[in-house]
Amino acid sequence: MATEERVKILGVCGSARKASTHWAVNLALETARSYPYVDTEYVCLGDYKLTPCTGCMQCFGWMHPADAQGPYCYEAKDDSGELLTKMMNSDGVILGSPIYTLGLTSLTRILQEKAHMFGPMSFTKFSGRMRNKPLGMITVGGVDTAGQESGGHDMWIWAQGIGMYTSGTWPTIDDPNPLAATLGGFVSTCDGRAIYGKSSLSKEACRTVPPTQGARNERAIRNVGRHVAADAMMLKLGRKAFADGGYDGPTVFPFTRYSVKPKKNSWVQHLIDTGKVEFVDKGKN
Ligand SMILES: Cc1cc2nc3c(=O)[nH]c(=O)nc-3n(C[C@H](O)[C@H](O)[C@H](O)COP(=O)(O)O)c2cc1C
Repeated sequence: MATEERVKILGVCGSARKASTHWAVNLALETARSYPYVDTEYVCLGDYKLTPCTGCMQCFGWMHPADAQGPYCYEAKDDSGELLTKMMNSDGVILGSPIYTLGLTSLTRILQEKAHMFGPMSFTKFSGRMRNKPLGMITVGGVDTAGQESGGHDMWIWAQGIGMYTSGTWPTIDDPNPLAATLGGFVSTCDGRAIYGKSSLSKEACRTVPPTQGARNERAIRNVGRHVAADAMMLKLGRKAFADGGYDGPTVFPFTRYSVKPKKNSWVQHLIDTGKVEFVDKGKN
């Protein structure tokens, strides 16, 4: 059955520089676009101002304006709102991060913290907006098994926390074994001729003969693009069929009793005014 539906995949590179992770995320996006129903957008976090979360907890709800047009960080005037809006408007995300000291980069982590806005304990209009969308994961290390897997697990648990599903890199007929990672494209530049170079993940820049590491990298990354694209469409069509079919499902709602005095004109105050939330004074419950 032909469909007019399209999906938008957002590629995010969690590196401050445009080198291997930039290359990898763009290869995944390019492969995603091999399906005619896919549009893509790319962002490199190094091009944005991102300041660390200060733990002000305003995104937990009481400050969130009832008429907010989009998500943003209430404490810092950084670019996280722009990035979160791009995430929210996408049907799937490919997140790539270099591995620094066996973990994700601080840039990647800041975005993840700011995306708390989409989580279940964020009492805002934007909570839940990433639910039932796929995340494709790419972690890039300089050497083999030096943090790619645990970085991938960090991405996975974060994705779960905001209701996303993770797409793996199952081998495909176009890019079969040897790469059959279920979680994501966990790749390394260690066989690159210049391991910190800009295209060291690629088959062409691989110094092993015949090229093996580069081919594995490319296969894993391309399969991330394919699976996220197809999963994004399946989930989008599924969400639409569910809504059109009138099926009932759970209404996600973090608190029905709230004890922090909400700001006037806030989302929580609106919910109190409309009877969905009861305000309970601290100390009286
Ligand atoms: C501060 C720092 C720490 C690093 N730690 C690791 C590490 O623990 N494991 C690893 O495999 N590579 C490590 N690397 C190497 C990078 O993961 C590798 O150069 C990768 O290609 C960087 O991604 P980029 O090219 O997109 O910037 C580290 C690099 C930097 C700058």
